Amino acid sequence: MDAVNAGKKAAAIRVVDELVKTDQVLGIGSGSTIVFAVEHIAERVKSEGLKLTCVPTSFQARQLILEHGLTLGDLENFPKLDLAIDGADEVDSELNCIKGGGGCLAQEKVVASCAKKFAVIADDRKDSSHLGQNWHKGIPIEVLPFAYVPVMQKIKTTYGGVPALRMAQSKAGPVVTDNGNFLLDWKFDAEKKWDWNLINTELNLIPGVVDTGLFIHMAFKAYFGTSQGSVSTR
Ligand code: 5RP
Repeated sequence: MDAVNAGKKAAAIRVVDELVKTDQVLGIGSGSTIVFAVEHIAERVKSEGLKLTCVPTSFQARQLILEHGLTLGDLENFPKLDLAIDGADEVDSELNCIKGGGGCLAQEKVVASCAKKFAVIADDRKDSSHLGQNWHKGIPIEVLPFAYVPVMQKIKTTYGGVPALRMAQSKAGPVVTDNGNFLLDWKFDAEKKWDWNLINTELNLIPGVVDTGLFIHMAFKAYFGTSQGSVSTR
């Protein structure tokens, strides 16, 4: 296993050991780090007989839950969750996060908002003092497909920087989210001091924006794993 994955795995194991308890309803995030958490949840269900219901944040998360034989739930039956666990692209000193590198931000935010506690897991490259320090791909923003050009123009005019439509790796077309929408990645001036709470609110008010990858004041704890397998929390 490479150094980055070792960090992701260490953080994932620690959060599951520390926060997951029997009879919980859990929100399961998306991305590569959460895979290690689901693997460890499944191990504990098997070895300790934990009774858990898992609510996914994406098609990927749903598949992960099913592949590991965990009990699948949804927000219709479980609108209140005990705990949501998810990865992040960057976490600042106040636990504000950029998420959505994997394109699942809208469902991730809904599920996290329904949980009593939202915990973030990441390798220590994601640990930053301010947003934009270590993550240079910008803030993901999910938009209605027909509105992506006016939304990009409004963002550029109001805030500067470079908003771009996220393209599929094949370049054959735009990335389409699980909700059938497009994604913008807004590269902002990381030297500037931003009021992310305000920016998040303002971005969400632009007609056509579904949600942003700014998770402000949502996480209660972050776990950062190192390549040596140690974990720091804050
Ligand atoms: C997906 C996400 C992911 O949680 C985020 O991109 C981190 O991914 P990874 O665990 O692969 O580093 O927000 O929308």
